[in-house]
Amino acid sequence: MIDVGKSILEPINILSSKSRGLRVFIKRDDLIHTYVSGNKWRKLKYNIEVCISLKKSGILTFGGAFSNHLLATASACNQFGFKSIGIVRGEELDVNSNSTLGKCASLGMKLVFVSREEYKHKNEKVYHELLSLDYPNYHIIEEGGANYYGVIGCQEMMAEIDECIDHVFVAQGTSTTSCGILISLNTNQFLHVIPILKGYKSISEMKSLISKCGIDELLVNNLLTQVEVLDQYHFGGYAKYNSDLINFIDNFYKETNLKLDSVYTGKVMFGMVNELKKTKYDNSSVLFIHTGGIHDV
Ligand SMILES: Cc1ncc(COP(=O)(O)O)c(C=O)c1O
Repeated sequence: MIDVGKSILEPINILSSKSRGLRVFIKRDDLIHTYVSGNKWRKLKYNIEVCISLKKSGILTFGGAFSNHLLATASACNQFGFKSIGIVRGEELDVNSNSTLGKCASLGMKLVFVSREEYKHKNEKVYHELLSLDYPNYHIIEEGGANYYGVIGCQEMMAEIDECIDHVFVAQGTSTTSCGILISLNTNQFLHVIPILKGYKSISEMKSLISKCGIDELLVNNLLTQVEVLDQYHFGGYAKYNSDLINFIDNFYKETNLKLDSVYTGKVMFGMVNELKKTKYDNSSVLFIHTGGIHDV
């Protein structure tokens, strides 16, 4: 069994939390690995196990030009002696287009650049079958690690925490991480998700992904009542930001020495700090999941 290693839990003192009986913790998944940091290791762990058990040649997966998931997959495959193939959105790109792609290539990932039109088929079974003809014996993982094994890996996060937690705040891209966390919550805990894509249908995406884990529909609907979607903190959408966000990230770093990125964790922390000003959070324990995303490629 691959050992991802536990991540540490750190208390932080924000918003005069002590005087309000508010306790805030950060789950430092960002410290798990240099490139496979944060939720990436959690999502890849059981996918790597599958490759080992089924004697696969490697992993084939999908991503955009700056995909943390592609980099994490390249690195994990390199570490475990598997080949890796990244199907990249954008035929105009090449390995020199940016440092993420360059690092993927240097870790041995074969990058296949496809048109945006072709990339739209990324989740279709027929497309996967066609790719399997070109690249036989590869384990195919959906974009962002959004498969059953990814959810099951993310489910392990909460089990590492000894503190009693009432509220969890986490970023949402494909929902894999938030689904894993949700299915591991007790019935009195709440999950606050911050989608970083504008117009993302959080609840229906979560419903469809959790259903893939074989959970009964009634139970899925029950679980979803523990979710609050905070869709006002995406700052315009994926990789969009403004000076408020950047100033917030800079000031947060000065105050706490904690690094946040402007695509995912910065938006979640911005949203969480804003939400925690509400008195309904007094006398509760809150957890921020640091999903990583910061690495010098
Ligand atoms: C740093 C970071 N945080 C959060 C997410 C979103 O996670 P998910 O796609 O599981 O919703 C990602 C994407 O994988 C990410 O790279």
